[in-house]
Amino acid sequence: MHSNRRAFLEKIAAAGTLSLLPAATALADGAPQPQADEKNHFVVGPYLQNIGTDEVTVMWITHKNCFSWVEYGAGTHTSKREFGYTNGLIEANNRINKVTLTGLKPGTDHKYRIVSTEVLGYKGSKVEFGETITSPMFSFKTPAPTDEEVKLVVLNDIHDRPQIIPQLLYRHGYTGNTRDYDMVVFNGDCFDWVTEEKQMVDHLIKPSVDVFATEVPFILTQGNHECRGSFARHIPHYYAYPENKYYYSFTRGPVHFVVLDSGEDKTDDSVEYGGLSAFDRYRDVQRRWLEKEVMSEAFKKAAFRVVLIHISPWHSGDWHGTLHCREQFGPILNKAKIDLQISGHTHRYATHDADSTHSFPIVIGGGPLEGKRTLIKLHATRKELNLKMIRDDGELVGKYTLSKKVV
Ligand SMILES: [Fe+2]
Repeated sequence: MHSNRRAFLEKIAAAGTLSLLPAATALADGAPQPQADEKNHFVVGPYLQNIGTDEVTVMWITHKNCFSWVEYGAGTHTSKREFGYTNGLIEANNRINKVTLTGLKPGTDHKYRIVSTEVLGYKGSKVEFGETITSPMFSFKTPAPTDEEVKLVVLNDIHDRPQIIPQLLYRHGYTGNTRDYDMVVFNGDCFDWVTEEKQMVDHLIKPSVDVFATEVPFILTQGNHECRGSFARHIPHYYAYPENKYYYSFTRGPVHFVVLDSGEDKTDDSVEYGGLSAFDRYRDVQRRWLEKEVMSEAFKKAAFRVVLIHISPWHSGDWHGTLHCREQFGPILNKAKIDLQISGHTHRYATHDADSTHSFPIVIGGGPLEGKRTLIKLHATRKELNLKMIRDDGELVGKYTLSKKVV
């Protein structure tokens, strides 16, 4: 049994829940307060982002500003080395380390480890370096275009309850000792509102690293609560997305995924947003992108097309965000004959068959309270897509088996 999983199961058996990590002081902008006598160390990571058939982005956070790199290679050798750079300058003033490995071999196991050398400062033309720290070795596998199947799990609406991540994944994310997923989706509202880096680390990144994220990538789709709080505008620095956008598509084996950002739930002029929201315009830009996306070869030739969006355009009440998503995205999604949509937001798990308003089934995951939390498990082959929604107590509360459409 995976050692982390065993430890967790023993812990919940003994205590029933996990405790949160201790809080720390923070500067006004949410960054952690540096401790002069504290040596450089890995705050969290590594965690995998934005994996493709020939690339992956490795991220981690260091306590001090560093020059960092990844040592990696196919099989068991780490003969290559990669770093991040911008406009020719190698990144050397960062605590948030982001290194993209490219030219990888599809469908191949790789080993890697992260290395960071502290940058003490610059004196004239010279750079003063501090100590170098190195992680243990980790591994990941690149997907292949020819993969016959894909398995992923979706969590949503965690709302600052990080114990949900090990609870759902360790209880229901395994068959025997084998993980049932190649990827994890956090489908929005991981937080109530974000005020500091430590909150993001302790409530999402660290529990993900502890359970899976050194080996399996995750994506965070933006929920309306990620749009709130003093740290909201810093969130994108901690993750990697195609073209740095929250709306994009990717193909994994037989499934083409389309990720949309439903944005805030109220109108842009709502007093809560302080006049600093432009979600109507943003959803309009996404609609124009979506119109082209559904005409793409990748979308058309996939065996299955699945949409991930935090607020469902249907069955999510009648607030502005829901209605505007329906107006902007609804006609395109209906016409494009997508196979399935997966959402959250309402906190009430539910499944909605195709009807006169939407031409595809909609699955809405529940949360965040005990008895309402769900893990959505998707397993697709080139012929069949299976979805199961499992409540935290193990009860199956939603199920779809979809066959490949004959177009
Ligand atoms: Fe929400």
